[in-house]
Amino acid sequence: MKAEKAPLPRILVLASGSGTNVQALIDATRERDFPGRIVAVGSNRPKAFALERAAQANIETFVVDHTQYDSREAFDAALMAEIRRYNPDVLLLAGFMRILTDDFVRAFRGILLNIHPSLLPKYTGLNTHQRALEAGDPVHGTSVHFVTEELDGGPVIAQAEVKVSLEDTPESLAEKVKAKEHILYPIVVRWFCEGRIQLGSDYILFDGELLKAPLRLTDD
Ligand code: GAR
Repeated sequence: MKAEKAPLPRILVLASGSGTNVQALIDATRERDFPGRIVAVGSNRPKAFALERAAQANIETFVVDHTQYDSREAFDAALMAEIRRYNPDVLLLAGFMRILTDDFVRAFRGILLNIHPSLLPKYTGLNTHQRALEAGDPVHGTSVHFVTEELDGGPVIAQAEVKVSLEDTPESLAEKVKAKEHILYPIVVRWFCEGRIQLGSDYILFDGELLKAPLRLTDD
């Protein structure tokens, strides 16, 4: 008798921009052994190239255009309703450039992950590459974290570093960071889909053990 295969965790990705991280996630989840599948990609911007990438991969897309809503609450309620139609097990922010309300964040607590272009807790918010350069940081990087009510302040699961060189500009640094993000995010999503990562009250369990510091992606 053949054992019934458990259905794969359902991943939904939200993006606002060019979607290179969405592409990395699409490519990773296409691998035969990936323990999850992307059921939809949503955006607040009708013209986001991330939607094009999803459509190319035959993944469903949806748009909740924030300019059509009078308040953040109304936008988030509409977004939440759309997301719920897909019943996701994992909700990923991949360059999703809207601040989410506390109600939204609470509704998806524990399954809502974000990738942020800095070594958190350094440089929450915007212009992270510029700020790292201005501070003369020798290393910069990216973080994957659980989203909580505090902006870019939820527990960090994993990070990857890049070296900053004297020639770097915000643009060149953004490219270097993105190259790391494309490796890091799929790895963390894999672990999450395998049930290895859990969010506690203000801590993370990795393989059932308290994660004392973010996991680090190294070059070797
Ligand atoms: C990524 O670098 C991501 O870390 C960042 O936006 C970029 C999106 O690029 N996210 C944030 O700044 C969130 N605050 P992409 O559209 O090519 O994936």
